[in-house]
Amino acid sequence: MTAKILVVDDEPLLEYVIQQKFRQKIRAKEFKFIFANNGKQALEKIAADPSIDLVLTDINMPEMDGLTLLEKLAEADRTLKAVVVSAYGDLSNIRTAMNRGAFDFLTKPIDFRDMEITIQRTLEVVKQTREDLAKLQQAQTQLIQNEKMASIGQLIAGIAHEINNPVSFISGNLDHAKNYFKDLLHIINLYQKYCQDNLEEIEEEIEAVDLPFILEDLPQMLDSMTEGTERIRSLSRSMRTFSRSDSANRVSFNLHAGIDSTLIILRHRLKANENRPEIQIIREYGELPDVLCYPGPLNQVFMNIIANAIDALDEFSLVSNNEETENYQNNYPYQIQISTSICSNSIDEQEKIVIRIADNGPGMTEEIQNQIFEHLFTTKPVGQGTGLGLSISRQIVVEKHGGNLECISSPDKGTEFIIEIPL
Ligand SMILES: Nc1ncnc2c1ncn2[C@@H]1O[C@H](COP(=O)(O)OP(=O)(O)OP(=O)(O)O)[C@@H](O)[C@H]1O
Ligand SMILES: [Mg+2]
Repeated sequence: MTAKILVVDDEPLLEYVIQQKFRQKIRAKEFKFIFANNGKQALEKIAADPSIDLVLTDINMPEMDGLTLLEKLAEADRTLKAVVVSAYGDLSNIRTAMNRGAFDFLTKPIDFRDMEITIQRTLEVVKQTREDLAKLQQAQTQLIQNEKMASIGQLIAGIAHEINNPVSFISGNLDHAKNYFKDLLHIINLYQKYCQDNLEEIEEEIEAVDLPFILEDLPQMLDSMTEGTERIRSLSRSMRTFSRSDSANRVSFNLHAGIDSTLIILRHRLKANENRPEIQIIREYGELPDVLCYPGPLNQVFMNIIANAIDALDEFSLVSNNEETENYQNNYPYQIQISTSICSNSIDEQEKIVIRIADNGPGMTEEIQNQIFEHLFTTKPVGQGTGLGLSISRQIVVEKHGGNLECISSPDKGTEFIIEIPL
């Protein structure tokens, strides 16, 4: 990794001297120097490039001096370290700089050997601090999401379990009811055939209740009840598939079942509302073998990505009042397309499963797209988004499964997420 060092000094010759003295390190791509003439310019460069590791700054400069820059640096990025370069003997400024958080200081005239050692030592501290911070954030993300999913999972598994018993006795009794009805029908027929006395009263009653209609309608009613209970059962099966507990070992799992169960759980969110029609789900499933994986976490990934797509389509429906977007809508109804396939990597021929989830919502600007996998990055209002969905999804796909998660998006063209899981 090349270390990026921002040198802030109003002396134009310094750039040339540094490029000369460190030319070997620059050529070996160990160091990359960026230059700014004053504090203000330095802050602009840091804002444009968050991967800068170290700032070497002079103290006396026009527009914004080094001491003010130090104060602002702490606000911009706490992991970034600054080393001040000051005239030999300017102890009072050096003290002020250290009090404002400078990591170290160098004296002028510059001793480049000393400068190199100071740079190396400071870079090590920056690297360590950033690694620690990243680990901490990752652990925090995982903790929150695990907690969230564990309680959702438990709730869903619990409801599924509770639903099963009452549904079983409805569906079990329906079978008996159908048989009883057949028996009763048979007996009615026998009566009609053999008992011809006092028919008038019976005929009147048959007319009053519209017996032919009942005989025709009752079996249909029973069938639709059977279908209803079958649907509740399949919902409860999906709920259980979805909330499969996170086992310590990989297990063989049908990814299509995972996606389908996720869609069933999200079904209420796909339905039409006052702002938009129902969201169409277009499935293009390839032939996939079962995959050794962690089903619970993978379902979480499907859930996060599909829920984001629904959020995006909802947001789109709220702003789609003008004519332009109305045309857009007419051409493209609200859709989420999910396709799966097996591909083999051209380099090592390793086979992988590719799942694409695409929506035709508002898409994202490049600036947003660059940040979506970051911990706590969200564009949604407080209470609606925590900014964890995609960072945890990336963790699950990349670290837990050795796969890949990517996003292709542009404004007005929609968004596509590509999940790759090696077989
Ligand atoms: N399909 C999409 N279309 C447009 N923007 C998207 C899409 N998916 C994600 N984004 C953007 O990426 C951001 C981060 O998504 P992420 O799922 O990590 O967090 P979130 O949805 O905001 O919150 P939550 O933690 O509740 O999931 C979203 O706030 C949104 O701006
Ligand atoms: Mg989300």
